[in-house]
Amino acid sequence: MNPEEVLREIERQVQVCKRCDLHYSRKHGVAGEGPVNAAIMFIGEGPGFHENEQGRPFVGAAGKFLDELLAQIGLKRSEVFIGNVVKCRPPGNRDPKPEELEACDIYLERQIQAINPKVIVTLGRYSMAKFLPHAKISAVHGRAMRVKDRLVVPMYHPAAALHQPSLRPVVERDFAQLPELIAKAEDAPEYQVEPLEEKSDPKQLTLF
Ligand code: URA
Ligand code: SF4
Repeated sequence: MNPEEVLREIERQVQVCKRCDLHYSRKHGVAGEGPVNAAIMFIGEGPGFHENEQGRPFVGAAGKFLDELLAQIGLKRSEVFIGNVVKCRPPGNRDPKPEELEACDIYLERQIQAINPKVIVTLGRYSMAKFLPHAKISAVHGRAMRVKDRLVVPMYHPAAALHQPSLRPVVERDFAQLPELIAKAEDAPEYQVEPLEEKSDPKQLTLF
């Protein structure tokens, strides 16, 4: 299967997936969207109300802010991949549970392998925790780190900045640095596909 076919297959699979209890209340699974050759992958938490209704990621208030942040650095939504750590909406927008994150991780892993992005930007703590276990967002936001030969930049979730206005300029500054980080990522060592079950090891993190 070529990478494009992998993404299409995942889109079909999440619509009918029953790997965790989130399938009971979903209207639409939200696999994520963006070109298979995207250089940047943004990974949020999970679909909210509007995403569940429309089957598309980041289409509510946080999505509008994300669009603005992208526009500020000259990027269009259609140029990046936007996804989430869980593909079905947690009821009432509650936090995803560990077993839901674990069940859904196979889809995100396959998306990352298919897209092979230069940079993964994590939005919020659940997405950060996948790559940078034990990291504190207040300490590491906006800093590029190499995780198993992949560049990961943790950022505050856009929704957090909407609820907490003091975070807004912080998020804007972090986004403004992205083009430079992507340019530097050109020098990153070649990506090696990791076994699906392997989790990132905090000891392997090095500051970029
Ligand atoms: N928040 C997220 O984390 N993901 C979405 O898709 C929308 C809002
Ligand atoms: Fe499947 Fe993920 Fe939806 Fe759970 S959240 S039912 S694992 S697609």
